[in-house]
Amino acid sequence: MGKYGKGDTKWFQHDRFGMFIHWGLYSMPARHEWFKSRSFVRDEDYQIYFDLFNPDLFAPKAWAKSAKAAGMKYFVITTKHHEGFCLWDSQYTDYKITNTPFGRDALREIVDAFRAEGLRVGLYYSLIDWHHPDFTIDQNHPLRDLPAKERDKLNAAKDMHRYAQYMRDQVTELLTQYGKIDILWFDFSYPKPEGADPADDWKWKGKDDWESEELVKLIRSLQPGIILDNRLNLPDEADLTTPEQYLPSQPMVDADGKPLVWEGCHTFSGSWGYHRDETTWKTPKQCIDLLVNLVSAGGNLLMNVGPTSRGYLDYRAEERLAAYAEWMKFNSRSIYGCGPAPAEFVPPQDCRYTYDPETKRLYLHLLVWPFKSIHLPGLAGKVKYAQLLQDGSEILRREGALHLAATTPEGCLTLDLPVPPPPGINPVIELFLK
Ligand code: GLC
Repeated sequence: MGKYGKGDTKWFQHDRFGMFIHWGLYSMPARHEWFKSRSFVRDEDYQIYFDLFNPDLFAPKAWAKSAKAAGMKYFVITTKHHEGFCLWDSQYTDYKITNTPFGRDALREIVDAFRAEGLRVGLYYSLIDWHHPDFTIDQNHPLRDLPAKERDKLNAAKDMHRYAQYMRDQVTELLTQYGKIDILWFDFSYPKPEGADPADDWKWKGKDDWESEELVKLIRSLQPGIILDNRLNLPDEADLTTPEQYLPSQPMVDADGKPLVWEGCHTFSGSWGYHRDETTWKTPKQCIDLLVNLVSAGGNLLMNVGPTSRGYLDYRAEERLAAYAEWMKFNSRSIYGCGPAPAEFVPPQDCRYTYDPETKRLYLHLLVWPFKSIHLPGLAGKVKYAQLLQDGSEILRREGALHLAATTPEGCLTLDLPVPPPPGINPVIELFLK
């Protein structure tokens, strides 16, 4: 529990699966949302995207429908990413969507569309801002290539305290004008490492720069139950740990061994923002593996889409969302309300367990379909019924030998499986524990 309160994470750990949406001006260059920084783009050269931004095929209702069909229960949208562009009609900046040719408050339409589909609302807000005049040039900034003298001179005229106030003002807008917000996702801190050379002090930013403490106090007063992520460099106030593009194999715990509430965030390809030429797209199977792997280790999956600059989800994203939809239609019971299995149950090779403690059902996820039978250690005498989740067909089980077939090893339960794999990705077997 933080000094100022604590988020309501019960629904979050039940729902397990959300959609991340990265959408901003960077969808136009379509070369990664860090394009401005990576290519050292100056404000005057980046301006063309702002001047021309006009997503004529913007269809938040379609995004929301795809998310819902995929089984996602909440979403997190970039209200402002590192480029500083705001998706809502903020009164604290002109660098906002309502001043582009598009002219509408996209955030409001997105929030309304997702709420209408029954999804909970999360807002991502970038601590980093490569457009705000008071945000000092640091190691990630597009102007970091300037000679030190010039950089220091520019930085001397900037005032991070004013920027921190700007953030509080904007967060106040977001938390008072869009109804109940379930998650607030700040991104991110890079505090000075111990022993760093003082000559490098310009490079870092952390809780003192963001004035995180004051920010948290404000947030908890405006939306008491909101879930706060852990990127404000104020670990005691965080509700949510956010491993990024990484797959922990065990439930995550804090320094004292206490279980953490955590969520893995992942992309379909390597980029968060729309990236036309990105080629490292995950297969539908890899996408489903991710969900299963994360939930079996006690985490959530926040899976990202980067809509195009015309405002729709491109076919590669839609294909993968459709794969989730197909899989979740039959197997969502092994995800919602589920977490890791009791430690005594160790899954066999190429398998994962998820477990619903309410119904006492254990789900065996077969990432590779085994040949004819599978032995489940520790489950002898503990299962009253087993079925293929997909079609509810009984799976035969035994604890001894079958004709000439291998005998069940000590303590194991053996399931006899059809030789041809059932259709679809990663079949699940539902085990009703006694
Ligand atoms: C990183 C990146 C960013 C992305 C985020 C998602 O911190 O800076 O582009 O939005 O991860 O977790």
